[in-house]
Amino acid sequence: MTAAYEIIDHKYDAVVIGAGGAGLRATFGMAEKGFATACITKVFPTRSHTVAAQGGMSASLGNMGADDWRWHAYDTIKGSDWLGDQDAIEYMCREAVPAVIELEHYGVPFSRTDEGTIYQRPFGGMTTNYGKGIAQRTCAAADRTGHAILHTLYQQALKHKADFFIEYFALDLIMDEDGVCRGVIAFNIANGTIHRFSAHMVILATGGYGRTYFSCTSAHTCTGDGNAMVLRAGLPLQDMEFVQFHPTGIYGSGCLITEGVRGEGGFLTNSRGERFMERYAPNAKDLASRDVVSRGMTIEIREGRGVGTQKDHIFLHLQHLGADIIHERLPGIAESARIFAGVDVTKEPIPVLPTVHYNMGGIPTNHHAEVVTLKEGNPNRVVNGLMAIGECACVSVHGANRLGSNSLLDIVVFGRAAAIRCSQTLIRYAPHRSLPKNAGAETIARFDKIRYAKGSLRTSEIRLDMQRVMQADAAVFRTGETLQEGVEKMEKILDSFADVNLTDRSLLWNSDLVETLELENLLSQAVVTIKAAFNRTESRGAHAREDYPKRDDDNWLKHTLTWLDATGKVTIDYRPVHLYTLTTEMEVIPAQPRVY
Ligand code: FUM
Repeated sequence: MTAAYEIIDHKYDAVVIGAGGAGLRATFGMAEKGFATACITKVFPTRSHTVAAQGGMSASLGNMGADDWRWHAYDTIKGSDWLGDQDAIEYMCREAVPAVIELEHYGVPFSRTDEGTIYQRPFGGMTTNYGKGIAQRTCAAADRTGHAILHTLYQQALKHKADFFIEYFALDLIMDEDGVCRGVIAFNIANGTIHRFSAHMVILATGGYGRTYFSCTSAHTCTGDGNAMVLRAGLPLQDMEFVQFHPTGIYGSGCLITEGVRGEGGFLTNSRGERFMERYAPNAKDLASRDVVSRGMTIEIREGRGVGTQKDHIFLHLQHLGADIIHERLPGIAESARIFAGVDVTKEPIPVLPTVHYNMGGIPTNHHAEVVTLKEGNPNRVVNGLMAIGECACVSVHGANRLGSNSLLDIVVFGRAAAIRCSQTLIRYAPHRSLPKNAGAETIARFDKIRYAKGSLRTSEIRLDMQRVMQADAAVFRTGETLQEGVEKMEKILDSFADVNLTDRSLLWNSDLVETLELENLLSQAVVTIKAAFNRTESRGAHAREDYPKRDDDNWLKHTLTWLDATGKVTIDYRPVHLYTLTTEMEVIPAQPRVY
């Protein structure tokens, strides 16, 4: 059945998709420079997932001890297990300082030191002097830093008069026959009208795809819609096998307990009361990088030293910090622990478990935020008209493992970089070429097919199948056997989408329809993630293969690229890691053994 849809056309210099921190920073950066800018978002901007970021944003301000952006870059490269692109890391760590000062001037209410400067706390893997000391580098607004930043950025976007299309669901990129992105097609969730946006630049800022997993700290809305649009446009995603497990999700609910707890002096124990991280990271202990801590916790549980009646989780202690420090610096997690675990953190430990938190992989870009692809032997070929920023992008500054508090940094620095690049390459209010003939027709046909799907499986059943497979087979530890099994199961689950059933065909606030579109997006990412993981026969950062326990720089110091065609076939290729810097201010850090 094909229904007739009302199609409304729009023209903008730039269209940003997503209104989290990255999307809003790019949106107002473009509007501030005088570009006609629209931001399309499926949720109200201040409900975007950035709001959930807790512990802070890294920047070597040096407010609480000596610091240097080169030390920050070294930590980030080591944290990435050398898969990060060193030119992009140099850019991010250097730009961190002006980016955070800018935020302060925009009005972000950072916590303060006694001297009145921005308060900075220690975070995992953040050191001074190339690994010799512990850095206090993470700029915090108590434990609600994302909330503070998101609200400030939204105010800036309103001030600069960007146009918002709120509760619009982006369906597909509009690509022309030369492979140039010419716009985007979206539908208005409130009334079902279809909107075609012609734009000189489309900037994807659609976040991660944590909801491919059963237990994650990500919001229900984290379905990687931009990544899926990129795959449907015939472009690749990069390094999808690298999925971060945050060590401290609340046992049972997955709700995030910030690493800032350990930064402020909290620690983990097993059923014997041992501070077991001393065994896995003798120097950094509980403040080792997240992949190391999550593996340590998983080994403790596997070897029978987990806590609770099932011995299947770990305790996080902060009682010793005292009620005053907890209420001043960690009020949000005190509340979350009370609501989601029934725990008074001034008296008892919080039950925690490694929980899916972040996708290092995503849409490959250069450090200007321009999307790149591997074409005609060029591994850095720019896709004109298309940018990606934030968690949906893979710049790659996080490589195989992201350091905590480098995410808020990434979104602000690269949101800003996108606006700067557009101001160098776009002409304001330039005339629009007409869109390709029938632009969006295939998308509307796909939308219509889903709306009228009459199969036998509910959306929630297929989603649960996918989430269980990803949770079991693409976990903290992986083996060829579990991954192979996971690949086979995921292929069947992907096929099962053809048998989905929708009972509500309405176009007015139809959450069944939105969740089914999201499910289709999630499935495509789950498939490429598990296939990329199966292919990479080494252990690096968050990708820990028990059958290949060592990092193998001779064969695997390279980024994975994955394409998915309409039949579900995955193609994999590789591109080199950038082992060069942008300036002479920083030297390349050669790959070394990674110990904390
Ligand atoms: O633990 C946290 O507060 C999370 C921060 C991050 O993922 O960067």
